[in-house]
Amino acid sequence: MAKQLVSSLQISIFLLVILNLNPVFSSAKIGVDRIGSLVRESCKNWTEFPNICISTLEADSRSISVNTFPQLCRVAMEVASTRISETLSFISQFQVNETDPTTQFYLKACVRKYIAGTSLIEVNAIPAFDEKDFEEAYNDVALVRQLVADSECDDSSVTKLFNGRQTELIQFITDVVNLADRQRRNPN
Ligand SMILES: *[C@@H]1O[C@H](CO)[C@@H](O)[C@H](O)[C@H]1NC(C)=O
Ligand SMILES: *[C@@H]1O[C@H](CO)[C@@H](O)[C@H](O)[C@H]1NC(C)=O
Repeated sequence: MAKQLVSSLQISIFLLVILNLNPVFSSAKIGVDRIGSLVRESCKNWTEFPNICISTLEADSRSISVNTFPQLCRVAMEVASTRISETLSFISQFQVNETDPTTQFYLKACVRKYIAGTSLIEVNAIPAFDEKDFEEAYNDVALVRQLVADSECDDSSVTKLFNGRQTELIQFITDVVNLADRQRRNPN
């Protein structure tokens, strides 16, 4: 089961990276009102960057079906995985043409961290969450945050390529860590 998850995930990441596809992720601002106050209240009450939390979650159609805090927390992890994949495919495109060896080095290392980050969410954090192992889910997303904020991705040669995308991503993942923390402290 886990093995299948890994391989299908790796294949999709492989496709994103190699074919440099622009993934069509749901970003329609649909049903914003119907999402109701749960997203807004949860982001305001529990996260460090509530505005990023609200706008990112409200822009994703998966938030519409959310009725409880645990559901919201799980969706937030899914959205984080999607956002990391999107950013991964964006920065991966620069690998092809990059001629500066230092940039190439950091970029390659950074891409690996992003791949590890999505795997960690999909293969560890979400399954752990579904088994109500909220402590494990929290630890996993906290590690994901470390991975994407890692020194290699933070080297100035690489941050130039991100063109501002990295900050918002890290802020959103920080929010997801906050939400997972709340869930682990209040498992019922
Ligand atoms: C957010 O905080 C307010 C005020 O303390 C509280 O009434 C509300 O239930 C909280 N909502 C969530 C989703 O935590
Ligand atoms: C890489 O170089 C090719 C050929 O010069 C160019 O068409 C392409 O747009 C470049 N890609 C990026 C991401 O700069």
